[in-house]
Amino acid sequence: MTDRHLTIDYIEYTSVEEMEPQDRELVAAALEARSGSYSPYSHFQVGAALRLEDGTIVKGANQENAAYPSGLCAERTAMFAAGALHPDLAFDTLAIVGADHGVVCDDPATPCGACRQVMAEYQGKGGRPLKVILVGKDRIYKFARVDDLLPFIFDSLKA
Ligand code: THU
Repeated sequence: MTDRHLTIDYIEYTSVEEMEPQDRELVAAALEARSGSYSPYSHFQVGAALRLEDGTIVKGANQENAAYPSGLCAERTAMFAAGALHPDLAFDTLAIVGADHGVVCDDPATPCGACRQVMAEYQGKGGRPLKVILVGKDRIYKFARVDDLLPFIFDSLKA
């Protein structure tokens, strides 16, 4: 028997000004993307902005439905749009921001498990790390790869 430990690395910024210009641009796009949120049930607006390998930014926002499970998170809206529109471009960085009744949350909104699984799939498809930025009012987290949000990623090729 062996006790093993996993370490998760991420960067915490206290302000967007501390970030690289490209990341700042993506955070701004995620904030803008919230305007596309259709959230009459939760009143929780989530914006996502995905940078592709050629610099293209694809935005997404959560889409709710009276039949609740039929809705979709902002992250998957952006990733599926990018996958459908630009199937040959790898995903580079995904920025996510959550706002409750229009007010950006103090702490970063963290993606649900299903969105993490979809991130993992596209990271594998692209063959390069997908960086993830989680934006809050008081702090911003940056992860260098999806593995740091979803350890032990399922890989059917390895299973
Ligand atoms: N939501 C997202 O868009 N992304 C997440 O990672 C978690 C939750 C949405 C779904 C729903 O429209 C609202 O936030 C409240 O759960």
